[in-house]
Amino acid sequence: MSLFTPAKVGTLELPNRIVMSAMTRSRAPEVGVPAELTARYYAQRATAGLIVTGSVNISPEATGYLWTEGLDTPEQVAGWQQVGAAVHAAGGRIVAQLIHCGRVSHTSLQPSRALPPGITDAAAGAEVFALADDGTPGMVAASAPRALTTGEVEATVGDFVQAARNARGAGLDGVEIQGGNGFLVEQFLSAANTRSDRYGRGPVFLLEVVEAIAAALPGFPLGVKLTPGGVINGTVPPAGWREVFLRLLGELDNRDVAFVTLADQAAVGAPGGYDPEFAARARQAFGRTLVLGGGYSGESADEALRAGRADLISFGRPFVANPDLAARIRTGTPLAEPDPTTFYGGGAEGYTDYPTARAHPGGDSAPVG
Ligand SMILES: Cc1cc2nc3c(=O)[nH]c(=O)nc-3n(C[C@H](O)[C@H](O)[C@H](O)COP(=O)(O)O)c2cc1C
Repeated sequence: MSLFTPAKVGTLELPNRIVMSAMTRSRAPEVGVPAELTARYYAQRATAGLIVTGSVNISPEATGYLWTEGLDTPEQVAGWQQVGAAVHAAGGRIVAQLIHCGRVSHTSLQPSRALPPGITDAAAGAEVFALADDGTPGMVAASAPRALTTGEVEATVGDFVQAARNARGAGLDGVEIQGGNGFLVEQFLSAANTRSDRYGRGPVFLLEVVEAIAAALPGFPLGVKLTPGGVINGTVPPAGWREVFLRLLGELDNRDVAFVTLADQAAVGAPGGYDPEFAARARQAFGRTLVLGGGYSGESADEALRAGRADLISFGRPFVANPDLAARIRTGTPLAEPDPTTFYGGGAEGYTDYPTARAHPGGDSAPVG
């Protein structure tokens, strides 16, 4: 098996095993509506076997970063419809990554400048991209949250379902729940979860979300992204996290989850993360499509697939500067390096203006049409 062996994920047929990993690019200044440019950006990358969008807020309260897209208003859904249509016209497949940031947020991003919703009232100790007191955008300390009531957590499960419905309504090909990187789902899974209601048992929230989406949208491809062992956005893994995550993977295997993405935090320079032994046990615990990501090259991805360690490999940063990443890997064409200063915010620069390489090594570059 290689990166170019076709694969099936739920009902989706992928021509190759290259996944474009979720990457927030913060180019939606208009109240969370994906820009026209965003349709172009994803369509340029449609030769990926599967595209996962950058995190999409399931509700206004779910927002944790400035200029990120949502999926609840009619305008946002219409924007995603354009994105989906552009990717499909270019021959690709695209699933929306659904996020609730929980306490990793700031009052300037919340409706009526309310305190961000948290699992408890303990602050994340993280920084988010928001408006400072003087109204200028920049990195600011996440605001102390207020603890969600049990009823509000139940309503949040409903918001995930509605966002998944909206993704399907927009013609997208599935959803991936953001279960990692210190956001709400992982806050429930973490050492910070000291709740005394049923959501105090770490995996309950995620399992309810998964069950509710599977019940509402049978057969709609559903994935979960996890970052086991990672310490990011101020969220520390629970004691005995290996066993906790392995049990969780077994629970996800018993439900209608088409794929699980495991991202290695160490690859992006964050502390913590998992080791190869954990990944091997995760492979045993979850029997459907396993996607591994974090720091892969074409060669190391092929090696992981040949060794049976994963079914698909996700690539994040390599997709930023290489819209034709699949062709470059196939032809051994050197990869372009992305400019991190244009990762977040701005317009076309560093977003849709990276050229493709011609299909022969060392050939001329051509701008993407
Ligand atoms: C600019 C940027 C934005 C990212 N945004 C997200 C995101 O919205 N959701 C997510 O799950 N991961 C996000 N990530 C993490 C990537 O999906 C991926 O797991 C990570 O970059 C490791 O893969 P790589 O080494 O191939 O880049 C982001 C990474 C980058 C570089």
